[in-house]
Amino acid sequence: MRILVIGGGAREHALCHAFSRDPAVTELHCAPGNAGIAASATCHPVDQLDGSAVAELALGLGAELVVVGPEAPLVAGVADAVRAAGLPVFGPGAEAARLEGSKAFAKEVMAAAGVPTARSHVCATPAEADAALDAFGPPYVVKDDGLAAGKGVVVTDDLAEARAHARGCERVVIEEYLDGPEVSLFAVTDGETVVPLTPAQDFKRALDGDLGPNTGGMGAYTPLPWADPGLTDEVLETVLRPTVAELRRRGTPFSGLLYAGLALTSRGVRVVEFNARFGDPETQVVLARLETPLAGLLLAAATGELAAFPPLSWSDGAAVTVVIAADGYPAAPRTGDPVEGLEAVAAEDAPAVHVLHAGTRRDEEGRIVSAGGRVLSVTALGVDLAEARDRAYRAVGRIGLAGSQHRTDIAERAASDQSPTIE
Ligand code: AMP
Ligand code: GLY
Repeated sequence: MRILVIGGGAREHALCHAFSRDPAVTELHCAPGNAGIAASATCHPVDQLDGSAVAELALGLGAELVVVGPEAPLVAGVADAVRAAGLPVFGPGAEAARLEGSKAFAKEVMAAAGVPTARSHVCATPAEADAALDAFGPPYVVKDDGLAAGKGVVVTDDLAEARAHARGCERVVIEEYLDGPEVSLFAVTDGETVVPLTPAQDFKRALDGDLGPNTGGMGAYTPLPWADPGLTDEVLETVLRPTVAELRRRGTPFSGLLYAGLALTSRGVRVVEFNARFGDPETQVVLARLETPLAGLLLAAATGELAAFPPLSWSDGAAVTVVIAADGYPAAPRTGDPVEGLEAVAAEDAPAVHVLHAGTRRDEEGRIVSAGGRVLSVTALGVDLAEARDRAYRAVGRIGLAGSQHRTDIAERAASDQSPTIE
């Protein structure tokens, strides 16, 4: 199978890594890709937001499956353009991708489908926002309605900060605070059949102990030894299937990856957010444990044949990923610093550890340098979380990047059999 992956972050590198282990994949292409992806795929400098350019590339390559990784091209309608060109594409069209592109739309779909989520108000003026903040009380949860790369949400006890964030957004969703640990559950769907993957946990805050600003995600692990074994089935019945059914009923079926960000509150499971694509960095650990070849699964979703797909198979062990971010991330990441030590990790730690590239590129001298806020995602497998964690951190210790930062507590509590802290 000839595959074209759209995007150029660690998630797309994880997808390419999984495809390169799949014997059904004969050719792998990526647009635009990055310095790490270039080792296993042919990279094409195509604008990932330009649907006709992507469709033209896919047709030119004779792609048999196009996988759109990030949210921005999905919301921009790139999957629609590829579908219109007659090629199988994994990823929802622009209408269904609004589940991620607009928090207000997601709330409306959840209300119609009876999916449990935080009570909320959509506010278009400062007076409405003030009234909503007052009604809910602290901690305040203020969300920019549009796409914001994981950085549009402010959770704070400080009313002035909550107000200031609300005023900086055109339309804002203000909602009830949800207590309890968070879980990310991904599901592959063709718009009708829903196949859940294994749950994972992401670490959204920049600093150890869940302090500091929200980021795109600083690390992740799977499985979740502390979670109820019935969680996946419960979320499938109460969240994933009703949401997919509601979008089908509206005539805008969601096919691709439905990501439910969940809070396990004292009053039950609640949806924090939906995303319309694989999460980053959870994908790195989820795909590391997926034994079912990936290409056939995503093709079955793209072609509406998931109902006949055999059950997924998972490795028994655990996976942990630690993100190495640039100096200044998330506010003002510095780029252009050389990345050292990748050969040492390949020599000493592979195959249990693989390093996925997020923001990297090759400079004029051929060196790999940082090119974004999150730079690398160091991913390790182990018999259990403790072993995977040790391996990941040992490899992180071999990597040099001037001024870089990473959290030191990814999967720490879960590895010692404790449930995660409540943010
Ligand atoms: P979102 O982009 O909606 O996932 O929000 C980013 C992060 O903000 C989430 O992962 C949570 O940690 C936090 N958050 C969002 N909504 C709530 C809420 N209603 N209550 C508590 N924390 C929230
Ligand atoms: N892991 C958070 C996200 O992908 O949005």
